[in-house]
Amino acid sequence: MIKSQELGSTSAKMLYINKHSNFMDTSHEYGTLINLSEEQMATKEAARDFARTYLLPDVRERDAQSIFPTEAVKKMGELGLMGMMVSPDYGGSGMDTLSYVLALEEIAKVDASAAVIMSVNNSLVCWGLEKYGTEAQKQKYLSPLASGKVIGAFCLSEPEAGSDATSQHTSALDKGDYYLLNGTKNWITNGGSSDICLVMAQTNHALKHKGINCLIVEKGMKGFVVGKKEDKMGIRSSDTHTLMFADVEVPKENRIGEDGFGFKFAMNTLNGGRIGIAAQALGIAAGAYELALTYAKERKSFSKAIAEHQAIQFKLAEMCTKIQAARLLVYEAARQKDAGKDYIQAAAMAKLYASEVAMEVTTEAVQIHGGYGYVREFHVERMMRDAKITQIYEGTSEIQKLVIAREILK
Ligand code: CAA
Repeated sequence: MIKSQELGSTSAKMLYINKHSNFMDTSHEYGTLINLSEEQMATKEAARDFARTYLLPDVRERDAQSIFPTEAVKKMGELGLMGMMVSPDYGGSGMDTLSYVLALEEIAKVDASAAVIMSVNNSLVCWGLEKYGTEAQKQKYLSPLASGKVIGAFCLSEPEAGSDATSQHTSALDKGDYYLLNGTKNWITNGGSSDICLVMAQTNHALKHKGINCLIVEKGMKGFVVGKKEDKMGIRSSDTHTLMFADVEVPKENRIGEDGFGFKFAMNTLNGGRIGIAAQALGIAAGAYELALTYAKERKSFSKAIAEHQAIQFKLAEMCTKIQAARLLVYEAARQKDAGKDYIQAAAMAKLYASEVAMEVTTEAVQIHGGYGYVREFHVERMMRDAKITQIYEGTSEIQKLVIAREILK
C-alpha cells in the first residue's frame, strides 16, 4: 500500500504549497482523531501527501476545462487507492472501510472530482464484484479494477429513473446463453473513462424490482455507445456521460448473482457507496474550512485580522463543530460496516448530514473570503459548486431521509 515517502520530494511539495499558499498553509485538524490505528493514520497521511503533490497543482485548470485527471488516477491505482477494500488476492489493498474513508476525505479536501472517481470504483464497482461476483468474474474483472489498471462505472440511473430506481426501463431480455440489452443510462460517473460497467436492467417487468438483473458490460461490446458528456456545475473534471445500449449481447456468465438479484445488488452496493460520498462531502467541507481559517487569520479589515472579529469567529466555530459532527457520523458508519453490522441507517445518516454540512460550510467559506471567494482563482468557489452534488447523487438528501425513516420504523 501507499507510503508517504513515495510521494515526491519535500522540496517539490513545498513548491506546490507555496504556489498555492492561500490553500494549504494550514493542516489544521479538528480535535482528536478517535482511536485510529497507526496503519489508518499512515494511510490518511499518505493520501494527504498524494493529494497535495499530484492533485493540487492543476486542480483549478482541470475544473475550468473539464479535464479528467488521467495521470493522477493512474497513480492512484499504483498506490492502491482504487481497490482499497479488495483482497490482495484480487489486486486490492485489503484495507478496512475506515481506512478507505480516511483516504477519501483527504483526496476530497483537495479535489472532489478525483474523490468521486475513486469512490465509484471502490464502493460501487469493486465492492459489489468482490462480494457477489463469481470466481471467474473476479479473476477477469475485479483484478484489473482493483489494481487501477481500468476504471469501472455503476449504471442505475435513467432519464426517467433517478430517485425512483425500481422503475428501470433498460431491458435485458433472456435469450438463452446471453441477455439482449437495450436502453439508456444517465449521469454515469466515469462514463467515458471506464472500461467495465455494472448495468442494472429489467429482465421480467411482471416481477417489478425482483425482475431486475445486474450485468457486467464491457466498453467494446457491439451496440454499446458512449453518449454526450455532461457540462456540470461542479466535480467538473470527473466525466459524467449518458450511455446507450442497442441490442448489446451480454453473456449469461456476466450476470451478478441469481436471476432477479440486480436491484438488491444495487441497493446493497449503494449502502456502502453512501459512506464513500459522505467521506467525499466531509473532505470538501474540511478543505473549505481549512482555507477559510487560513484566510481569516491573514486578511485584515478595520485594522485587524478578520479572525479577530466575532462575526467571523462564530462562523468558524460553527463550521468546525459541524465538520466534527459529520466526521463522527462518517467514521461510525464505516466502523459499523467493518464490524459486520447492519449499516443501512448509519450510512444514510452520514451521507445526509455530511452533504448538508458540505454545502453549508463551503457557502460560509465563500462568505468569509468575501469578493475573493466569488472568483475562480480561489478554491472555495469551486468547492461550493462541488459540494452541491453530494446532496444529489447516490440518493438525494430526501431519499436518505426516506431510508432512515424506514429503518427507524421497521
Ligand atoms: N438496502 C438494502 N435494500 C434496500 C434498500 C437499502 N438501502 N432500500 C431498499 N431496499 C430493498 C427493499 O428492502 C426492497 O426489497 P424487498 O422487495 O426484498 O423487500 C426493495 O429494495 C425495494 O424497496 P422498496 O419497496 O422500499 O422500494 P421503493 O421504490 O419504495 O424505494 C428506494 C426504493 C429506497 C427509493 C430506492 O429506489 C433508492 O434508494 N433510490 C435512490 C437511488 C439512488 O441512490 N441512485 C443513485 C444512483 S448511483 C450514483 O449516483 C452513482 C454515481 O454516479 C456517483
